[in-house]
Amino acid sequence: MKDWLENRTGLVTVSKEFLEEPLPQSVGWKNTLGAVAGALFLAQIVTGVLMMLFYVPHPEAAYETVEYIEQGLLGGGLVRALHYWGASFMITALFFHMIRVFLWGAYKKPREATWLVGLAIFGIVLGITFTGQLLPMNQTGFWAAKVGIEIGSSVPLIGPLIKQMILGGETVGALTLTRFYTLHVLLLPGLLVLLITFHIYLLRRHGPVTGPNEDTTKTEPFYPFHMARDLIVITIVLLGLFGISLIKGGPIEPPADPSDTAYVPRPEWYFMSHFEVLRMTPGKFKVLATTVLPGVMLLLFAGLPWMDRAKTTAFGRRKLVLLAGTIVFASIVGFTAKGVMREDPRAEHVAAVDPDYDPAKAGRRLYRDQDCQQCHKTGRRGGEIGPDLSNIGDDLSPKYLRDWLTNPKKFRPNAKMAPSQLKSKELDELVAYLLTLKVKKD
Ligand code: HEC
Repeated sequence: MKDWLENRTGLVTVSKEFLEEPLPQSVGWKNTLGAVAGALFLAQIVTGVLMMLFYVPHPEAAYETVEYIEQGLLGGGLVRALHYWGASFMITALFFHMIRVFLWGAYKKPREATWLVGLAIFGIVLGITFTGQLLPMNQTGFWAAKVGIEIGSSVPLIGPLIKQMILGGETVGALTLTRFYTLHVLLLPGLLVLLITFHIYLLRRHGPVTGPNEDTTKTEPFYPFHMARDLIVITIVLLGLFGISLIKGGPIEPPADPSDTAYVPRPEWYFMSHFEVLRMTPGKFKVLATTVLPGVMLLLFAGLPWMDRAKTTAFGRRKLVLLAGTIVFASIVGFTAKGVMREDPRAEHVAAVDPDYDPAKAGRRLYRDQDCQQCHKTGRRGGEIGPDLSNIGDDLSPKYLRDWLTNPKKFRPNAKMAPSQLKSKELDELVAYLLTLKVKKD
């Protein structure tokens, strides 16, 4: 049997060579991160395929089928949660893997190609998470796709083409969903499998980097010790993924509502640092944040093996590169933390990229949703219980309006109007709307 397999396929020798690959002695726990990312990718394929058995990529059906997976299927909620958290786990593992490679100088000659393929892998993973977000057709996914497409379309020259190609129409609709679905489940993962295979082939071709003062004659085979290290770390990470998925579950969001300009999603944490920069860039210079910065970053990362050409991998002799890397790393972490901790960055994020964002318009929608007209008149419509608000913007200051809405009892102890439960940002929007109510001068 074994002979037959070997004779017809040669697989026995190949796997033997794979397992007996000699590794330098500096290889240790730090070299397990790539394998962890790979294992998480396999887990994503398993949970993703399970969901594909029930998911229907059509705007009318997508949300319902995801809801069915979440609530109607035994274990469906867990599978979806594993897939959702798995994405964050995978990006974290890749991020640490990249830091390790950077610190140990593992991108240096002759491993430039391994590094470039690794960068491509990271980019594709980001693309997979971005396209995956839209699939449930919920509020977050819908608005994240809109903002993302807006950013893509602001790229000079090719922007409109990018937009047309991924949007497939005037707005985020059936064709957009079909395209995101195809990218998410087929094109990008297919490409990823090829690139990962190539990455591992290149890794094996050049072997892991050795330390500066290492005796390269001493080696140990991949099997059993390093393989055991890989498996131990993978098991721990997968247990962590199970734990967080069981405790937190997958996020449940209201279905996408294209007319709802007041609801604006918060980007996933791994896109947060870029959004922070985007938010802080004034309108005229948006192209700096949407195109120039990502372009420069890409060039810096891709060019790293040619900029840091010294043969040595010793920390002490690569001070400049390590300093530059630390600055980039600290900015990414800093901007991410700043964005994640912001009280309610949602509206601001879309305001940052959506030139049509108008707080008064959002406020008007809130006025309707909160049933203010049950008691108040604006124009001819509305109830009689509270005062007529038709020209409220003439008499009252924004500060007073805001304080009144927050706590009417502060002004009139027996006020009949209930204090508002809105978030700070939403109060601003509601006040912005009230201020537009003025006597028309014409
Ligand atoms: C249950 C009925 C009711 C609802 C609903 C209601 N209000 Fe009022 N509102 C009142 C009454 C009554 C007053 C007059 C003061 C009082 O007795 O509370 C008032 C007063 C006001 C005032 C005037 C304050 C002043 O000092 O002149 C504003 C502005 C206002 N409401 C805005 C709103 C907005 C915005 C909403 C929707 C979020 C809303 N109200 C919902 C009953 C209501």
